[in-house]
Amino acid sequence: MALKYGILRSMSDLPAMPHVVNKAQEIISKPNSNMKDLVKVIEVEQSISARILRLANSTYYGLSGRVASVQHASVLLGYKTLGEVITVAGISNIIGKTLDGYNLDSGDLWRHSMAVAVGSRLIAGKKRPELSNDAFFAGLMHDAGKLILDSHVYERREDFELFMQDGQETFLNAEREILGFDHSEIASEFCQKWNIPDEQSLAIKYHHYPSQSEGNDLAYILHMADFIAMRSGIGTGVDCELYQLENGTMEFLGLQEEDIDGIQGEVVESVEDMMSEMH
Ligand SMILES: [Fe+2]
Ligand SMILES: [Fe+2]
Repeated sequence: MALKYGILRSMSDLPAMPHVVNKAQEIISKPNSNMKDLVKVIEVEQSISARILRLANSTYYGLSGRVASVQHASVLLGYKTLGEVITVAGISNIIGKTLDGYNLDSGDLWRHSMAVAVGSRLIAGKKRPELSNDAFFAGLMHDAGKLILDSHVYERREDFELFMQDGQETFLNAEREILGFDHSEIASEFCQKWNIPDEQSLAIKYHHYPSQSEGNDLAYILHMADFIAMRSGIGTGVDCELYQLENGTMEFLGLQEEDIDGIQGEVVESVEDMMSEMH
């Protein structure tokens, strides 16, 4: 556990959550907040305004070439979607990194995170619509622990290769075996630093084993969306084929096999649209 405490003490393995994302999440979570408050947050950040306009003008949001100002974007997109665009634009710098330890090119983790965000929002829409925005955000962040662990995994890459060489062991098991803890555990501890509310940070902690979360809806939603992303091949390397859906997840969420197929189709399409705009 010395490694874990070392990482937590140094707190320098991960950039701070962009200020604008924090602020936007805070505003959206307040019941009596409004669009004006949200627009005020973004307008002062020029680089983020530019990204927001680019994203809003993407085919993903269906407003191609029509948006010239943040004001205008906010009217066209609506409050909840604007929040989502801010989050995506703000976090893309962090999650778009290349991860040498996990053997992920820049874009791989990002694509996977987008897929889980979109899938989580869709599932939340069926189970608990009021959680849709939280689900999207938690989906974007669920594997951020990999950013924290990347350099430590890279240092031990030979141990990882050895442990996984016969293709029977997941990366998750390798993390636990070699580091003593996994990416979901460390991420949940960093969530405090990022000011992420408890329900979301617990969901991130249990996204691989939601039955241990004592009925956290969001943990089940993330797990289901993670599985769907893996099943569509929008995953992270070797773990795709070995990813197991925990028993009882579909029952907990009240989903049937055909719902999963529908969600998977929408996720794949959304992610393709979004990625083609961002790269
Ligand atoms: Fe994960
Ligand atoms: Fe994941």
